[in-house]
Amino acid sequence: MNYFDHAATTPMRPEVLEAMTPYFLEQYGNPSSIHGIGRTARAALDESRRTLARFIGATPNEIVFTSGGTESDNYALFGAAEANAHKGKHLVTTKVEHHAVLHAMEQLEHDGFDVTYLDVDSTGAVSVEAVRAALRDETILVSVMYGNNEVGTIQPIAEIGEVLRDHQALFHTDAVQALGTETIDVKALGVDLLSASAHKINGPKGIGFLFMKTGVKLATRSFGGQQERKRRAGTENVPGAVGFKTAAALIMAERSERVAEYHQLAETLLQRLDLLGVDYEVNGANRLPHIVNLYLPGIDLEPFLIMMDMRGVAISSGSACTAGSIEPSHVLTAMFGASERTKQSVRISFGQGNTMHDVEQLAERLADVVSTFTNGVRK
Ligand SMILES: Cc1ncc(COP(=O)(O)O)c(C=O)c1O
Repeated sequence: MNYFDHAATTPMRPEVLEAMTPYFLEQYGNPSSIHGIGRTARAALDESRRTLARFIGATPNEIVFTSGGTESDNYALFGAAEANAHKGKHLVTTKVEHHAVLHAMEQLEHDGFDVTYLDVDSTGAVSVEAVRAALRDETILVSVMYGNNEVGTIQPIAEIGEVLRDHQALFHTDAVQALGTETIDVKALGVDLLSASAHKINGPKGIGFLFMKTGVKLATRSFGGQQERKRRAGTENVPGAVGFKTAAALIMAERSERVAEYHQLAETLLQRLDLLGVDYEVNGANRLPHIVNLYLPGIDLEPFLIMMDMRGVAISSGSACTAGSIEPSHVLTAMFGASERTKQSVRISFGQGNTMHDVEQLAERLADVVSTFTNGVRK
């Protein structure tokens, strides 16, 4: 199987599993315990927190471990809304966020908050001016994702951070997709809250973190022990944290190499498709290098993906959470309106292990399957 769905999830690297294994089998202590085995687990957790903090230019106390991107987004949004409701009830986000943000925002509307969903342009980008114009005195939170999970478009986070510098609103960014390819510095970005997830960077599933800038107070819905400085109760996922740290350390050492590789893979894919006469357009611009979203006029999405699967190629229609249903993508709808394009686009996402040869094969199989929908007519 040629796997080109790394934006949905990534395989765990053997080095990551190797680093985690002792914390399942031998160093299985509870970090809150006083005894040696507990202290060993605590040390591993602290070390993981330090490495992950360095990964995004934060301090260790600003990292709160969670179960992944979804929990981090939910915690940021509900926590900020509840803690700041006395200052106002207005929230701002975009129409192209992941459902972990959009559905949380919808629930907040239900709870009495007023949410502005900003439009994007046809590349999927939100304008800094639109953010500025949406702000009110009573705005308490702005949530704009770093890079889109369907089309890859990168948002002007640092510029929005600048706009918000003298405003009471907290600034949250969902950096789940950006973590593997972008150098992230929370201070340069001016964010108060940032969501991250390990399984998108060859780490384990079920662990992520929320960066919470020093001084930022969120309301918690998680009551129990005093873990994570009372910000997230529950016995910590030590093997997960060690796995996340190991994956992050590997990325930090390899990022520029990987980015160059993904650019090359994307270029080769598009060149091949041109050579093979495939009619396509790329959705999005100024993209995360691992995501290429293609509009393939004339295809029928679900059978298309199944036919690719039968040819040994795993790609998707966009967000994994909506894959399997043929509802038009909310991201493409925000970019293009209710057009056929929203139902005739596929996402290819690169990751570790994809080779130039794999991509050449991918292009051939894509061309082959596309031609079955266009009766063999090529551009
Ligand atoms: C941009 C974005 N945010 C949030 C999530 C959810 O992360 P997790 O699967 O770790 O809950 C994803 C995963 O698809 C994502 O791509």
